[in-house]
Amino acid sequence: MKPYPNLSKLIRIGKVTIKNRMFMAPMDTGFGNNAWGGFTKEGVEYFVRRAEGGFGLLFSGGTNGDCVVDGCDGILNHEAEFIQVGRAMNERLNAYGCKMFIQLSMNVGRNGGLKTPSPLPTLGNPGVTTEALTVEEIRTKVEEMGRAAKLVKDAGFAGVDIHALHWGHLLDSFALSLMNHREDEYGGSLENRLRVCREIREAIAKECGPDFPVTMRIALKSYMKGFNQASFDGSEEAGRTLEEAIEICKLLESYGYDGLSTDAGTLDAFYYAMPPAYVPMGFTLDMAAQVKKAVSIPVLCGARMADPDMDEQAIADGLIDAVVVGRQAIADPDFAGKIVAGKPEEVRTCIGCNQGCIWGYFTTGYVGCAVNAEVGHEADWRVTKAAETKKVVIVGGGVAGMEAARVAKLRGHDVTVYEKSDVLGGNLIPAGAHDFKAEVARLNDYYRNEMKRLNVDVRLNAEMTAEALCDSGADAIILATGSVPVMPRSIKGIDHPKTVSGVDALLERKPVGQKVVIVGGGLVGCEIAFGYTKEGREVTIVEALDGIMNTNNVPGMNKSMLLDAFEHYGTKVLTSAHLMEVNDTGAVVMLSDGTQTTLDADNVIMSIGYRPLPSMADQLAGCGARIYEIGDGRQVGNVLTCVRDAFEVARNL
Ligand SMILES: Cc1cc2nc3c(=O)[nH]c(=O)nc-3n(C[C@H](O)[C@H](O)[C@H](O)COP(=O)(O)O)c2cc1C
Ligand code: SF4
Repeated sequence: MKPYPNLSKLIRIGKVTIKNRMFMAPMDTGFGNNAWGGFTKEGVEYFVRRAEGGFGLLFSGGTNGDCVVDGCDGILNHEAEFIQVGRAMNERLNAYGCKMFIQLSMNVGRNGGLKTPSPLPTLGNPGVTTEALTVEEIRTKVEEMGRAAKLVKDAGFAGVDIHALHWGHLLDSFALSLMNHREDEYGGSLENRLRVCREIREAIAKECGPDFPVTMRIALKSYMKGFNQASFDGSEEAGRTLEEAIEICKLLESYGYDGLSTDAGTLDAFYYAMPPAYVPMGFTLDMAAQVKKAVSIPVLCGARMADPDMDEQAIADGLIDAVVVGRQAIADPDFAGKIVAGKPEEVRTCIGCNQGCIWGYFTTGYVGCAVNAEVGHEADWRVTKAAETKKVVIVGGGVAGMEAARVAKLRGHDVTVYEKSDVLGGNLIPAGAHDFKAEVARLNDYYRNEMKRLNVDVRLNAEMTAEALCDSGADAIILATGSVPVMPRSIKGIDHPKTVSGVDALLERKPVGQKVVIVGGGLVGCEIAFGYTKEGREVTIVEALDGIMNTNNVPGMNKSMLLDAFEHYGTKVLTSAHLMEVNDTGAVVMLSDGTQTTLDADNVIMSIGYRPLPSMADQLAGCGARIYEIGDGRQVGNVLTCVRDAFEVARNL
């Protein structure tokens, strides 16, 4: 009996058979495709690595189908190269029994200030109105999509996915009555608003024959209150409702689409399109299940679907046909292979942070990952055995120490980890304490399991001195000693029984009452506030700066979701406010106007940051070993910076 029989089962999309039901979601990477949508060397390696990792089907990121109307570059301008690289890549993907669909895009419309069905406020710049497409331009776009699909077929790809009735991109804006005010055959009734979808399907059938499979990416609910406004609890919907989505899916089936790749959200409600960990796992599942009841083509379910047990059950119960996982495929290219092999405990969990992937893409142009430093370097950074075995001593069993140990051990070194407490995990433990951060706890489980699986010598309750380290005979000493919360001694009453550090609160080392003041409105403080608010406590955030989460390090979708949550739940936020004292009543705070007020509180939780633990590096100089200092102990950061430091150092040992 297979451990995950339903996820491991074959599935057919149109006439194409796919070896299992775990598909990688379409994701632009920045490094994977070049400016016109062709695959770079790094891109080929990235996709082939996911094929090797066991995924049945890979979707490419959105690739311009039309490059005439919007005047952009696209695959149709580079036919010979696209075919050459595509065929070579498909040969390698197919060797693993993996298929790939190219996601062909009608382009992003108002999200990029491009033409739309009707004049619309540009996303993020509502003062600028987009231009409406003429009927002739719409027809050109449709024809180009057909021609692009033929090129995709000739390059050896197994099908196309149409981008997309989601995220408020061009096709979505045709379908949404909020965004389509046309009075011709492309506006008005739902059928008219979907006419482009029908014509694209027909154009592809004409160019590629009826058997070349075509799926549609569709958000089953927009979660929009209006332009540039998300509906936090989904109760106000100005975009697509599930009821309308079901009607759309039925029509898409009647137009000949071979499958529906479902998700949610628009860029106006970006935290439902790119859901951070605060959005529950499987939040699209019930909606996809409703669609499945209404159609007979395969229904693929995406967005926060990276829980294999939930997925297996959903397919077993006939709720959906397959899962489309995005970020989990970035975090662990072997996700699908590990599930088919029945080893879910070996999956390196995506922590839903958005830090390296989508936020990396937005801020640097390249996708990375907080837990997988190899992304984008699949060929050249692959961990290989070292020529010579070294004795490696690692001080600290937090995420940086464990990642360094994992990689050093894979390199074949003799690795010992010394951890002064009685458990591995360091700051992953408080960080994974919220119910909405369960994936961080699972990441810790993954690392603990890796330490055992790889036979890393882990010594708990083992505080190392510089002397002991010098005597250890190590060739390399990696200091991964981490950080501790800052507790400003200068504040009156900082030792008051009401004062609790964020870490102690999360670890429940001290009981926390109903009325809570959280000092520090960074991401950690705001997540603590979110957790307590959801539990029904009265929360006030006190932040010294003029805004909360006021740094570019906080992914925009995480921030906007927390801000909307605070508004929804009535969480009080005081900015430009300074904690002066903790006393028997609560927190004495100086407000932005210079006045002081006392906030009634059962507890005052300090979350104003972390500081590195004192370094031993100086004392180790001259002891004969190479010394490395990584993670928070070097510079306070986050999971991403810890993992990157550790990977870089350990892969070169
Ligand atoms: C870096 C990045 C780029 C993305 N690009 C696309 C895209 O080109 N087309 C698309 O349909 N979805 C895109 N998505 C959305 C994903 O396909 C997926 O719906 C989203 O990540 C949520 O699913 P997950 O929880 O499995 O990650 C992108 C997501 C990420 C993280
Ligand atoms: S950066 Fe975070 S959310 Fe993105 S794939 Fe990696 S772990 Fe997942």
